[in-house]
Amino acid sequence: MARILVTGGAGYIGSHTSHHLLARGHDVQVLDDLSKGYAHNVPEGRLHVINLLDSSSLDRFLATHRFDAVIHFAAFIAVGESTREPERYFRNNTGGSLALLEAIERHGVRRLVFSSTAAVYGNPDSVPITEEAPLRPVSPYGESKLMTETTLKWLDACSGLRYAALRYFNACGAEAAFGIGEEHEPETHLIPLVFRAIRTGEPLTVFGGDYPTPDGTCIRDYIHVSDLASAHLAALESLLAGGASGVYNAGTGRGYSVLEVLRAAEQVTGRKVPFAVGPRREGDPAELVADSSKLRKTLGWAPRYDSLPAMVESAWRFESIRQGKRGT
Ligand code: UFG
Repeated sequence: MARILVTGGAGYIGSHTSHHLLARGHDVQVLDDLSKGYAHNVPEGRLHVINLLDSSSLDRFLATHRFDAVIHFAAFIAVGESTREPERYFRNNTGGSLALLEAIERHGVRRLVFSSTAAVYGNPDSVPITEEAPLRPVSPYGESKLMTETTLKWLDACSGLRYAALRYFNACGAEAAFGIGEEHEPETHLIPLVFRAIRTGEPLTVFGGDYPTPDGTCIRDYIHVSDLASAHLAALESLLAGGASGVYNAGTGRGYSVLEVLRAAEQVTGRKVPFAVGPRREGDPAELVADSSKLRKTLGWAPRYDSLPAMVESAWRFESIRQGKRGT
């Protein structure tokens, strides 16, 4: 059993990982400023509402707990928004991470798992993407995460911090057993928007039908949020056992087009997805698929979900619970 600090644990991936950590017997405390996350996602009694840039509150908090490691999720995640408000993204994501790193150094915590992103690759020359592919972010969001990766690399070399950075591909799905799922405000992610289109009858806009892919729509590597949580556990436990730092792609290695996601949703829900093909969304690469062999081989990770309909079904189960609660 280890004592783990989870920043951003009220968000989508952070809350799933917190529940998985507890289920595995670790002790978990969550830091979140609730600017994006939801208190109801956090396991009972474990939430501390603190912003990472509030160094004195962070110091007071760290002085009253002794952590073995940190899993750091807290960040803004909207790629489009980051192009309109880059300063906010650099301050919150890169500045917040640096403040956290300085604070944990002061309090002697030397293990950290970092929530990075496939957005560090920008438009890849080829797929599947390995960790050695060129790092050329095309948004402030991707750059803000890469800057933290760079900081971590130097802290590993110069001050003995050991870290794992997980570069997420497209997280999706939900864990009905924990009663949590994907909720963003505003929502920009494909699968929740597909459900909204089914519910409201308002057509979903498919961003671009003229990409150089078999059906003309973008291809992404969808990974179930619980599999992402288990990747964090594997990375954490390796670090706690004395393992070296590393950077890992977190995806299943299989790509699906936007139209394939729509078809999976129709199959799962038994309803038609109203949609119209619109223009491309700026900054969307045609195809992002992970080569996740490093994560599999080095950390012994394997996804439990390998079919898109199963992932979509878990998201739909959460959506039904959520709508039931709202009484709509
Ligand atoms: N899409 C649509 N219509 C929509 C929403 C999305 O066609 O209304 C398409 C997008 O163009 C894309 C695919 O569905 O091809 C998936 O889009 P998402 O917005 O769900 O996810 P992204 O691939 O844009 O973003 C994900 C993460 C980001 C991360 C990025 C890495 O959510 O945090 O991958 O490139 F930065």
